[in-house]
Amino acid sequence: MAKITGFSGSPRKSGNTNFLMEAILKKAAEKGWETDFVTLNKVDIGFCEACDACHKNGKGCVKKDDMQTMAEKMKESDVWVLGTPVYWWGPTAQMKVFTDRWYGLPRETFENKKVILVIPMADTEDKTASHVIGMYQDSCDFIGVEIADIIVAGGVTEPDAVKSKPEIIKQAEEAVGKI
Ligand SMILES: Cc1cc2nc3c(=O)[nH]c(=O)nc-3n(C[C@H](O)[C@H](O)[C@H](O)COP(=O)(O)O)c2cc1C
Repeated sequence: MAKITGFSGSPRKSGNTNFLMEAILKKAAEKGWETDFVTLNKVDIGFCEACDACHKNGKGCVKKDDMQTMAEKMKESDVWVLGTPVYWWGPTAQMKVFTDRWYGLPRETFENKKVILVIPMADTEDKTASHVIGMYQDSCDFIGVEIADIIVAGGVTEPDAVKSKPEIIKQAEEAVGKI
């Protein structure tokens, strides 16, 4: 069975990021996908410290934390939903630390994977999401992962704001048709 896993970089349990990610996973489940969800704020993932041991020892990252479980989830999933609100024109720290740790993962983790990006933000200017989008476009290009869809939810500040934006919820649900 195909598997889709959401990795949420939002610390707000009932916030806009998780609401949209859950809409995607629900639609995928209806279509027969196995689903999984990770709140990065609740797992123990340390900083990449650039020791480069991962590239020298052939055994991967020497840090023993939850990134090993994340790597397994990434590998066993066909699609990753990466959700992060815009924080200071970038991704949240939780999402950035997770992404930095991809540095130590074996190549096969990335083979034949697709990504759906979910990016809520307070601003209504598309340009405010440009650095997050650009970072993941270039990073995914580098590791050979296809971005299947990008959902930017502008104008959402309060945690439940996106619930009153049916066009964005529809866009999230329709992302499943692109994977
Ligand atoms: C620390 C912090 C920094 C933020 N920086 C930005 C920003 O640079 N641009 C923006 O449009 N919104 C910014 N926001 C607003 C969030 O992106 C917005 O509230 C979003 O909907 C939060 O998503 P969530 O409900 O999933 O947590 C920031 C919020 C916080 C807490």
